[in-house]
Amino acid sequence: MKKSYFIETYGCQMNVHDTEKISGILNGLGYAPAEDEKSADLVLLNTCSVREKAAQKVFTRLGQLKKLKIGKPGMTIGVCGCLAQQEGDLFFKNRPYVDVVFGPRNVGELPSILSQLESERHQLLALSGPRQEPTFEVDTILRDSEFKAYITIMEGCDKFCTFCVVPFLRGREVSRDPHSILLEARKLADNGYVELCLLGQNVNSYRYEDFDFADLLCSLHEIPGIKRIRYTSPHPTDINQKVMNLYAELPKLCPNLHLPLQAGSNDVLSKMKRDYTREMFLSKVEYLKEVRPEIALSTDIIVGFPGETEADFLYTLDVVRTVEFASIFSFKYSPRKFTAALKMEDEVPECEKSERLQRLQNLQKEIQLRLNQSLVGTTQEILVENHAKKGEGELSGRTPCNRIVNFPGPESLRGSFVPVHIESAHPNSLNGTAATQ
Ligand code: SAH
Ligand code: SF4
Ligand code: F3S
Repeated sequence: MKKSYFIETYGCQMNVHDTEKISGILNGLGYAPAEDEKSADLVLLNTCSVREKAAQKVFTRLGQLKKLKIGKPGMTIGVCGCLAQQEGDLFFKNRPYVDVVFGPRNVGELPSILSQLESERHQLLALSGPRQEPTFEVDTILRDSEFKAYITIMEGCDKFCTFCVVPFLRGREVSRDPHSILLEARKLADNGYVELCLLGQNVNSYRYEDFDFADLLCSLHEIPGIKRIRYTSPHPTDINQKVMNLYAELPKLCPNLHLPLQAGSNDVLSKMKRDYTREMFLSKVEYLKEVRPEIALSTDIIVGFPGETEADFLYTLDVVRTVEFASIFSFKYSPRKFTAALKMEDEVPECEKSERLQRLQNLQKEIQLRLNQSLVGTTQEILVENHAKKGEGELSGRTPCNRIVNFPGPESLRGSFVPVHIESAHPNSLNGTAATQ
């Protein structure tokens, strides 16, 4: 009988896509996906360490898997992803039930890891140095969607923002050969994929010899089957004029951009080592809105960075009010291992962090509802993805700006582009009906 696997994914799109790669590798090795952890021979936790909460979830989950394994001693438990790279063999300490730990750049070693485990090796550790080559090429990737595909274009980060653990775990920046990216994109188009999302910790610092991020976007734009191109995450400093101008020139380049602000105060930005000021950020936003007026911007914001005063925080609210982001991901600052901010003084009290987060989220909710309401009465082109959470007969998809739209329709529309007349708005989604053409 085929062995089965179950992977639980934490963290960002990079991890989600790594899970698709790991699933493809396991599939190639004859494993079949399991319904849940209880019925799986191999359970992998693909972990994240960006905030303490993300890390804690993994430790809690391991405690539950330990109990499961008591009744199923043949089961293999593995930890991979960023927290695996961070903690390494500490995962084995007092946890004899954990069989393997491997880092994000060791995904390609999975076949050899599994064969070693089969030959009775126990508690295997596979971590990488910061300069190890990432696994860009995987024979088969088991993708979650049949229409939208992630493509890794670079790995690692050289920015070392003072709050962030990612550069210590994902290693130095390496850009993938454009021939290999274009080959993967053409194959995806041949297989019916219509939307690409280019992935990297710092996508717009992509450079392969003389070929830069803007060149890559232009080359991908020429693939006929590909209708929408997105990417994440860019860094505000590296989003240059050449890339911004493409928003006027490339219709397939979706009018949505995740531009992580982190903070609105120049003092905080400088302590975070973000390399831009509020004014620089705002002038880029202004230019982007000029070249593509419908552009929907989203962002990440941290509240309660060490030393952040009420006055600093008010600058953040001010930028949020000025830019009117279509959505924000907001977090309380969480001290991380290895980072420079760990040693900074003037910690912001937890209750203050919570209060600031609440105020920021309240403001954003108002803005979001207002922006979404302004779309009522318009017709938007939706790429239909799946059933809406509500259930049967209700479809869900996204506008070019990445807004979620729910509307009634038959399952057969999945994967097609449908014009939808928007009738009502909520803070996080829109509702409508398919417009007759
Ligand atoms: N490369 C991406 C960020 C990846 S981490 C970028 O530069 O935008 C995703 C988000 O997690 C960050 O944008 C930041 O807002 C948040 N984050 C990272 N470290 C954090 C920390 N120590 N505490 C709270 N939030 C953090
Ligand atoms: Fe982290 Fe900064 Fe790199 Fe983003 S750019 S991954 S926030 S160090
Ligand atoms: Fe988390 Fe690693 Fe992504 S720390 S946010 S999974 S790069």
